[in-house]
Amino acid sequence: MNGIRTIGLIGAGNIGSQIARLALARGYDVVISNSRGPETLSALVAELGPKARAATAVEAAKAGDIVVVAAPLKSYRAVPVEPLVGKIVIDANNYYPERDGHIRELDNESTTTSELLQAHLRGAKVVKAFNHIRAAAITADARPAGTSNRRALAIAGDDRAAKATVRRLLDEFGFDTLDAGLLKEGWRFQRDTPAYGPRRTAHALRRDLALARRTQIDE
Ligand SMILES: NC(=O)c1ccc[n+]([C@@H]2O[C@H](COP(=O)([O-])OP(=O)(O)OC[C@H]3O[C@@H](n4cnc5c(N)ncnc54)[C@H](OP(=O)(O)O)[C@@H]3O)[C@@H](O)[C@H]2O)c1
Repeated sequence: MNGIRTIGLIGAGNIGSQIARLALARGYDVVISNSRGPETLSALVAELGPKARAATAVEAAKAGDIVVVAAPLKSYRAVPVEPLVGKIVIDANNYYPERDGHIRELDNESTTTSELLQAHLRGAKVVKAFNHIRAAAITADARPAGTSNRRALAIAGDDRAAKATVRRLLDEFGFDTLDAGLLKEGWRFQRDTPAYGPRRTAHALRRDLALARRTQIDE
């Protein structure tokens, strides 16, 4: 895509590695990072091939024309701020209190996961995407544009141009998109909503987003 050659990844687990595979299959370079350091990613990078390299999170954030955050939500404050100023950041994270610990503003639904990341990443353009698809399906369900019954992924974001770019990227990757609106609407495809998990066309996904209901978590 014009102006985008390198995808930076913060997180190299189920989701990060799968987005890396898809990006590489579409001809992008990939710089991937985790919490333990690049030397721990040698097996993954060997599998991914010569257009992938491992780096620190700061280096991945600097190198990416677009950067994907795919680390457990509890680490969101460790995502480097300065190198992401002005960049599009795709936020794949979800909130699992049993893994992430309780976060009061999420438990009482006064904010959403991607709004938390956006508040941390001042100056970045956060677009929520890849949240309601299981990692294995990222490569398995990708199809060329125009395929009938193509899977759609919901996106949300406050920057219209950033969302348009992510929409084009996802189209190239293999998915239709459905714009759920501003970041504050991202709860419509969070955990425990109808959209979370199943393969859906854009038409069916629109219905699922409309059916979503907010649920507060009791500690
Ligand atoms: N799994 C799915 O199907 C799926 C689907 C949609 C969304 N998600 C969401 O995507 C996020 C990642 O899920 P996952 O299943 O990929 O998790 P995962 O397999 O546990 O991988 C997490 C990755 O994040 C890295 N990480 C942790 N802290 C970091 C930091 N401070 N800086 C850089 N990297 C860091 C970990 O590195 P180390 O191993 O070195 O600690 C690991 O590579 C979660 O929020 C999850 O809810 C998951």
